[in-house]
Amino acid sequence: MNKEQIIIFDTTLRDGEQSPGASMNTKEKIQIALQLERLGVDVIEAGFAAASGGDFEAINQIAQVVKNSTVCSLARALEHDITEAARAIENAPKKRIHTFIATSPIHMEYKLKMTPSQVIKKAVEAVELAKSFVDDVEFSCEDAGRSDIEFLKEISDAVIEAGAKTINLPDTVGIRMPSEIADMISQMYKYIGNRAIISVHNHNDLGLAVANSLEAIKNGARQVECTINGLGERAGNAALEEIVMALKVREDMFSNVYTNINTKEIYPSSRMVASITGIEPQPNKAIVGKNAFAHESGIHQDGVLKHKQTYEIFSPEEIGLNKEDTLVLGKHSGRAAFKDKLEKLGFKLESNELNQAFERFKELADKKKDIYDDDIRALITSNMAKVDKAYELVALQLMDSTGGVPSAAVTIKMPDGAELTDAGIGDGTIDAVFKTIDRITGHKGVLKDYKVKSVSQGKDALASVNVQVAFNKDEPAVIGNGLSIDTMLASARAYLGALNSYLSMKGMLKKRHSQSGDSI
Ligand code: KIV
Ligand code: ZN
Repeated sequence: MNKEQIIIFDTTLRDGEQSPGASMNTKEKIQIALQLERLGVDVIEAGFAAASGGDFEAINQIAQVVKNSTVCSLARALEHDITEAARAIENAPKKRIHTFIATSPIHMEYKLKMTPSQVIKKAVEAVELAKSFVDDVEFSCEDAGRSDIEFLKEISDAVIEAGAKTINLPDTVGIRMPSEIADMISQMYKYIGNRAIISVHNHNDLGLAVANSLEAIKNGARQVECTINGLGERAGNAALEEIVMALKVREDMFSNVYTNINTKEIYPSSRMVASITGIEPQPNKAIVGKNAFAHESGIHQDGVLKHKQTYEIFSPEEIGLNKEDTLVLGKHSGRAAFKDKLEKLGFKLESNELNQAFERFKELADKKKDIYDDDIRALITSNMAKVDKAYELVALQLMDSTGGVPSAAVTIKMPDGAELTDAGIGDGTIDAVFKTIDRITGHKGVLKDYKVKSVSQGKDALASVNVQVAFNKDEPAVIGNGLSIDTMLASARAYLGALNSYLSMKGMLKKRHSQSGDSI
């Protein structure tokens, strides 16, 4: 039988980035894009070029480094959005513009305040303009899940005529049941035939995004839009790893289709995205959760020892979670082993960045006996958010005799290079540290969230601290991450990281290009 390809369209860098707290900088996005390419993703939606200068810059740089996957930018059906998208992707060997407009009655009436015929006109103009820049144009009927099927057919006819090659039918609000998606896709597939590829983009508000995507494939969809770890707006998108592994494990049900995904890159991709965004998949998450292969009950353990498939439907090796993942590096590991490890984890560093990362690794190895893959990921990703001419922690000393007043002495290197030291007290140790930082920098932050987790294992584990701090009551809180063997040092770094990000977003600091090694 001739198998048909399911095009895997990854939107981790666009819809995934819309997850609260998941914003990424250009360096981080480039690492993820290169890993997605290694994973075998067909189309990488690298961002929404017109959304911000940062988005544009990231898409533009991704377009220059990704060679095998198509690089795509999202654009509303507006002239400015489309020209920005075209400019951002112009250097990509394979490029696509993805333009969209809402087609449901509720969106057209209340959000767009447009009639259906005005919407069709806008959509056609958008596709025609996109087509003047690139051959590969995708058109999305936003909120297709709540749109009238006859209107979906009418607008599809018009945009296909204008040159769209892919028609995406998103369940934008994640309301549809699998049987309803099956019905919509089979009707649209019969109607459109081979005039365009039918795509789906399912949100997970009712936990059905993956089931709906699989049902769509059964009924003729040949592109699925998805994200690593299911990241995305609100409850997220369909998880790439779940769709791909369902197609593979249940090949008996999907014998007529295949994907280009190298499943051995699934786990490294998941870990990279978790390390960069700071958003860990839930432990019981299918495929990539920490417990996905943990057999707790005695009966299960006994079964697995006797024959793995008694309780395991696929092996951890199939997703790249093999022994190599627990192979430890230590202080005697050399540069070659370190470089090899970075490549296996999917990181591509320039030679000066590699040298600096190796210095940080050695520093960590002096303090921590065994270094695991997640430690290395944290070591690399924690340095990617740094900005130039920023506040840097030089020293931290805590005085907290039991029952006494918690106090902290902090030394900070200021953006102009001067070092300032001050001491202060607080209601607790962290409060004392953060208040003293406020006094030195002159920026008063309000702590909205504070999380600490150990990166890998052992009493000497690295602490990763994630904070959300508001530096202006009228603006959203900013995220900062800090890494150290010492939780208080990690906390101070996270707080300063949030301040630096805030000032950098305001254009008050510059992005750092070559970084000096930070101590662990
Ligand atoms: O959910 C949605 O409808 C989208 C579109 C822009 C494709 O993200
Ligand atoms: Zn979406």
